[in-house]
Amino acid sequence: MQAPLIVIVLAAGKGTRMRSALPKVLHPIAGRPMIQHVVEAAAALDPAQIVVVVGPEGEAIADAVSPHPVVVQRQQLGTADAVKAAREIAAPLIAEGADVLILYGDGPLITSETLARMRGARKDGKAAFIWLGFRPPDPTGYGRLLLSEGNTLAAIVEERDASEEQRKIDLCWAGLLLGEGEALFRLLDAVDNRNAKREYYLTSLVELAAREGLLSSVVEGDSDEVRGVNSRAELAEAEEILQWRLRRRMMEAGVTLIAPETVYFSWDSDLGRDVVVEPHVFFGPGVRVAEGARICAFSHIEGAVIEAGARIGPFARLRPGSVIGPEARIGNFVETKASVLGARAKANHLSYIGDAEVGEGANIGAGTITCNYDGFAKHRTRIGAGAFIGSNTSLVAPVEIGEGAITGAGGTIVEDVPAEALAIARAEQVIRPEGAKRLKARREEGKET
Ligand code: UD1
Ligand code: CA
Repeated sequence: MQAPLIVIVLAAGKGTRMRSALPKVLHPIAGRPMIQHVVEAAAALDPAQIVVVVGPEGEAIADAVSPHPVVVQRQQLGTADAVKAAREIAAPLIAEGADVLILYGDGPLITSETLARMRGARKDGKAAFIWLGFRPPDPTGYGRLLLSEGNTLAAIVEERDASEEQRKIDLCWAGLLLGEGEALFRLLDAVDNRNAKREYYLTSLVELAAREGLLSSVVEGDSDEVRGVNSRAELAEAEEILQWRLRRRMMEAGVTLIAPETVYFSWDSDLGRDVVVEPHVFFGPGVRVAEGARICAFSHIEGAVIEAGARIGPFARLRPGSVIGPEARIGNFVETKASVLGARAKANHLSYIGDAEVGEGANIGAGTITCNYDGFAKHRTRIGAGAFIGSNTSLVAPVEIGEGAITGAGGTIVEDVPAEALAIARAEQVIRPEGAKRLKARREEGKET
């Protein structure tokens, strides 16, 4: 049987280079805080515990990783010190012989496949510690892996402490470590800060362990997966890598992306077979699109369900709580929010539909607005199946339009309309024969005097 696993995510760093009021690991990538990507990748290993190490101002991080607990590292004294902050919470599982996996909260691109490879190496081999190595295009700033015979790791030297010769090594430590928990926490107490940065380095463990005959070995990972995010530019690079993963996953699942490089997904975007997405579409979190729907260009969609065969946009905005029924149509410059549209319902042009229920096959004319907010509270609009709402209608909620009813164009509907009724709610038109002619004549007179 494999030992239970404790995952420790380090996120106490200040993230100064982000120049942000928001903690670095809470900056979103593909629609959610980067630390949630890390936690999800780790969770795939089915660990007995995940704990996040945060700095003194880490309360906001606690919310983002809940229900997993956080522990506070008071002072940022180095990566070895950060791991120690989790000692108490890890103790019961360590006593049961748990392994520990250490990850960085600012490394959102790590995949569960790579973590599983580390786990495999730990299970199959003799090494007590598995360090994830990679070959960055530019190794500056990374700890270099010094290998001895048989791929055993002899030491890791930080850039600042490395010799000219050692700096030429291109195999670096990615910051991920998996090892025997009891040995790890015991050896952490022996780590000192006699180095260029006066920090307690986790990397010191390699040599301390070797002295006890505990071996370290290296699993090599992909350099794109272990990128850290330290600046806004690196945040954008990580986003780009993740977006391409999502785009590829969609296309493999049978979605057509006409110009994939222009479409933005969220981590949980869920698109069915034969969905077509035209260029420049943005999917915020919480969107599900069923089979065969078409999302036309320049649409912005979040928190919405789009049923099979529906057609959205171009230039549509679907906000949270929108449910667009099968074969329904949402056209250009239409905004929906917290509204359910039935099958084949249509709102083709320039409308706001908020807090509404629209029955099957109802037709909403151009420029129709649900006036759902009276300045104090939100109210609902109900439109029955097969109803026809004339163009440029204001539906002053709460209001109900019965099945099959028709409202005339330009109406301000403040009262319920019974099923199959016709409602006309606009000022009657007045015609003054030759009135325009007289008006113009008067103007001409004015000019002469
Ligand atoms: C560290 C490694 C280096 C490796 C690199 C990979 C050490 C000594 N060096 O260097 O070998 O190549 O990562 O990215 O470990 N953190 C805390 N508390 C602290 C210090 C750091 O939580 O007291 C967290 C930070 O939030 C960050 C991570 O640990 O996520 C790495 O810390 P950082 O100081 O950036 O280490 P590097 O210098 O990048
Ligand atoms: Ca770093």
